[in-house]
Amino acid sequence: MANDKHRVALVTGGMGGLGEAICIKMAALGYSVVTTHSPGNTKANEWLSAMKAQGYNFKAYPCDVADWESTVACVKKVSEEVGPVDVLVNNAGITRDMTFKKMDKANWDAVMKTNLDSCFNMTKQVVDAMADRGWGRIINISSVNGQKGAFGQTNYSAAKAGMHGFTKALALEYARKGVTSNTISPGYIGTKMVMAIPKEVLDSKIIPQIPMGRLGKPEEVAGLVAYLASEEAAFLTGANIAINGGQHMF
Ligand code: CAA
Ligand code: NAP
Repeated sequence: MANDKHRVALVTGGMGGLGEAICIKMAALGYSVVTTHSPGNTKANEWLSAMKAQGYNFKAYPCDVADWESTVACVKKVSEEVGPVDVLVNNAGITRDMTFKKMDKANWDAVMKTNLDSCFNMTKQVVDAMADRGWGRIINISSVNGQKGAFGQTNYSAAKAGMHGFTKALALEYARKGVTSNTISPGYIGTKMVMAIPKEVLDSKIIPQIPMGRLGKPEEVAGLVAYLASEEAAFLTGANIAINGGQHMF
């Protein structure tokens, strides 16, 4: 999986639980790794310093993936300062969990914009240039809950299911141009997103549904991202790959 072409990988939301593991894995494979953070994230420099202390020289740009103008400005800067993006990982995402009865329009819109519109916003900035160069990878981080639905997640499940349709249609349009488009659907991974679930719900309702009886590790998802980004994965497109400890069998 070595990346001897020094490709540029752009990982949205790289300062989160999954994103950080993806950045580290891609850097270890020789990619120039660029990430984004929310414009209001006051801990971005702290994160960059901590990564630098571990030997990772990441570049990071403010970008609200839910906002078209913000993504245009961000990717323009990345292209000028780092180079054209070869691998895009649409990873940034949020939850606003509540039963449908309590779901209001603001929390529906926030999740759709951040988790689904973001795929349009970011991919649009890079995919045609990838096709012109004859090589590219679009990797969308969806969720097991996009396939099976989840209590309290009508907004999130809809957005994550929407990513599958987006991924497949895009794969068809770019299949002959050297650009692959795939979705990874992680199950429950031990990041702050999952730690926000009430403990009694996690222990009584969620863990028992996972045949392996444990949460996944961010590094396990990062390894799959690295594979999809690799030369070896050139024939793999329009797929949705489940990585969830067997939960998709229920
Ligand atoms: N399955 C079945 N019933 C559930 C349930 C579940 N997963 N979660 C809650 N309930 C039930 C409760 O037992 C309770 O039932 P009773 O009324 O009979 O006692 C009822 O729902 C509570 O309803 P409320 O509307 O009063 O609940 P609430 O507003 O306090 O909270 C909730 C509801 C927001 C859904 C909360 O239970 C919750 O946060 N659940 C976790 C949701 C979840 O799994 N999110 C995944 C986050 S991680 C992620 O998204 C990453 C990924 O991609 C995998
Ligand atoms: P996380 O730790 O909460 O990280 C989410 C990241 O998204 C943060 O870095 C955050 O950046 C960024 N982000 C949120 N809104 C943004 C916006 N509007 N613009 C730019 N960046 C934004 O969550 P995670 O667990 O690593 O999740 C990463 C992805 O995996 C998400 O798409 C999630 O839905 C998906 N996923 C997670 C799990 C899981 O179990 N953890 C399972 C399946 C799928 P800031 O901190 O700078 O705001």
